[in-house]
Amino acid sequence: MKRRRIKKQVYVVGIILLLVIVLSIFGIRYLLYRGTNEYKLKKIGYQPEEISIIETLEPDQIQTILDKEYNVTIPKLLKEKYFIFQNLDRYLTYYNDHKDDDLTHVVSIVNVGADHEYYDKDMVVKTKTDLKNEYLILVNKFHYLDQNFAPSDIVAVRNWYAYGENEIRKEVYEQFRSMFNAAAEEDLKLIITSSYRDYEFQDTLWNNYANSKGEEWADSVAARPGYSEHQTGLSLDIVTDGEGSSMDSFDQTDEFKWLSKNAHKYGFILRYPEGKEDITGYSYESWHYRYVGVETATKIHDLGITFDEYYAYYQNEIEA
Ligand code: DAL
Ligand code: ZN
Repeated sequence: MKRRRIKKQVYVVGIILLLVIVLSIFGIRYLLYRGTNEYKLKKIGYQPEEISIIETLEPDQIQTILDKEYNVTIPKLLKEKYFIFQNLDRYLTYYNDHKDDDLTHVVSIVNVGADHEYYDKDMVVKTKTDLKNEYLILVNKFHYLDQNFAPSDIVAVRNWYAYGENEIRKEVYEQFRSMFNAAAEEDLKLIITSSYRDYEFQDTLWNNYANSKGEEWADSVAARPGYSEHQTGLSLDIVTDGEGSSMDSFDQTDEFKWLSKNAHKYGFILRYPEGKEDITGYSYESWHYRYVGVETATKIHDLGITFDEYYAYYQNEIEA
């Protein structure tokens, strides 16, 4: 009898011990789980699929999200191809003010700085162009060149290729001639109508536009002095003869169609495409081509993005 009671007591103690051990394990595991990002994100309100997207970020970036309230837009933004983490707050602010926009557009606008005023007076995004980028230097309404900047390897363009006097950078000229010859083989004629323009030239041009149709219109078609790509010696306005000799009708020509398919093979991109006016800051210009080199031009052409977007993401963010 006695032995059986002892046996029973040992059995009970064993079960209690086992329970304590099991509960401790669960307790410790729970305590550890409470320290995980998964638990903390869940507690704020994120769903499992949103959590798995957020958990692809760096620890300090996850912490930034943990410091905010639940926001359904954050995981959606993270899925955007050109999402840049440091722009997160600006994406959210811009989206808040433009609820009808799609997030791809929001990301593009903010990445290029177009959520700020053009010619930003408070210098938030007004930056002197980084000249180290050589053929990839960015000049737009937020990135400017010094008044006295002039490219060092500028050469004169033969009249055969152009209307009037023109100068461009040496490599650009060489590539333009290859492009000209390839187009000529298909009976097409590419003619340069504007190329390198210095600060003073651009100043006169912009002021003439502003005096005739007002500043807002001038800003939509021409850069202010210091902000024109033409000052880099890397930009060409290209037209043809006959009907297509006017810039406004150039996009109706076979030359334009040919350039749309082939310009990137010679390192040129269409700089101000149709439908991208709020990204580039300029009206559609079927005639304005920018030299960036064959590799980058091909990438930009294939991705279907503007140079501003390319620069913000690939040049600044990825290669930084
Ligand atoms: N038309 C282009 C934007 C310029 O003036 O540089
Ligand atoms: Zn131009």
